[in-house]
Amino acid sequence: MPQVKPHIAAMSPYSPPWTGLDRSAYLRLDLNENSLDPPEHVIRALKSCLDRKGIQMYPEYFRFLPKLAAYAQVGENQIILSNGSDQAIEIILRAFLGPGDTMLMAEPGFPIFNQVAGVIGAKVHGVPYDKKLHFPCEAFLDAITADTNLVVVINPDNPTGSSLSLSRIRDILEKAGDIPVIADEAYFEYTGVTALALLSSYPNLIITRTFSKAFAMAGLRLGYAIASPELIAEFHKIRGPFDINSCAVTAAGAQLDDPHAWKAYVVEIMQKAKPFLENFFTEKGVKYYPGAAHFMLVQPENRDEAVAFLKEQGILVRPMTAPLIRRTFRMNAGTLEQTKKFADAYQKYLNR
Ligand SMILES: Cc1ncc(COP(=O)(O)O)c(C=O)c1O
Repeated sequence: MPQVKPHIAAMSPYSPPWTGLDRSAYLRLDLNENSLDPPEHVIRALKSCLDRKGIQMYPEYFRFLPKLAAYAQVGENQIILSNGSDQAIEIILRAFLGPGDTMLMAEPGFPIFNQVAGVIGAKVHGVPYDKKLHFPCEAFLDAITADTNLVVVINPDNPTGSSLSLSRIRDILEKAGDIPVIADEAYFEYTGVTALALLSSYPNLIITRTFSKAFAMAGLRLGYAIASPELIAEFHKIRGPFDINSCAVTAAGAQLDDPHAWKAYVVEIMQKAKPFLENFFTEKGVKYYPGAAHFMLVQPENRDEAVAFLKEQGILVRPMTAPLIRRTFRMNAGTLEQTKKFADAYQKYLNR
């Protein structure tokens, strides 16, 4: 067999939880997805994409880009679409990192960053979250040095859920100077918090976002990055011309044209379901880290037993493996009804 590069041979693949299981048969609270099907008008748009010259042609983005630019409140030349925000992350890392270079990130963070840095042969300088899982502000600022090639800020972070204030992000951008800083805003629709206002003063800022979470489109793979027109022009050299499929832009266009359903979902999750879940765990004396978005880390007395019990009850959550959080599972809130179903199952677990 031909030999791959030794640093690739030494790596492990990124394997999502419950691989090989028919997740559609479960209440899925394990991957921070939208827990509902896409709304009917999105399904209709997808069907019409199949009916017209939707999939035999290479995809076109010129109808969708103005809609996304209006939604994101930036110029079209400040956006690059990507195949999930995973690909935006890959494009940015490939633009700024080479073998032996250093990426700075608070840990635990989103593992795709480590994976892509590993493929490139770059080093990851991880600064651990503190014991309460707060962002390690001072240590992180101190860690930005002349040897840093790229800074990653995940706001709010997955898996910890921790967030940073915009003034902290400004401090990081300021200290970074010409070093690029990614602000991963995969959960922007849930928090409403964005570093966008800093973009005009800090051309080293690059924001990534996704349609996988609030927009209920994880299976279609659409994300995007926002940066200065100059950086976006560079990123286009890395991405393939047709990497984002026609169905993804059709569905996303429909979500942006009629945002009623996804916005109502976000309101239900953040104003009803997540507070319900927090009250439930507080009342039951179960330790949890609430986080800023729609998901949280939960630390039962016996994590593996709790996860297995929930699975028997038809509910998937995600056992975490990173240091600091290896006794927790991560779960997202569903609708209020789904979240109550979870609470009933967890109550059964506590009563067993
Ligand atoms: C922080 C963060 N960034 C990026 C992603 C990637 O999302 P996608 O590639 O589906 O857009 C995720 C997905 O879980 C995430 O949590």
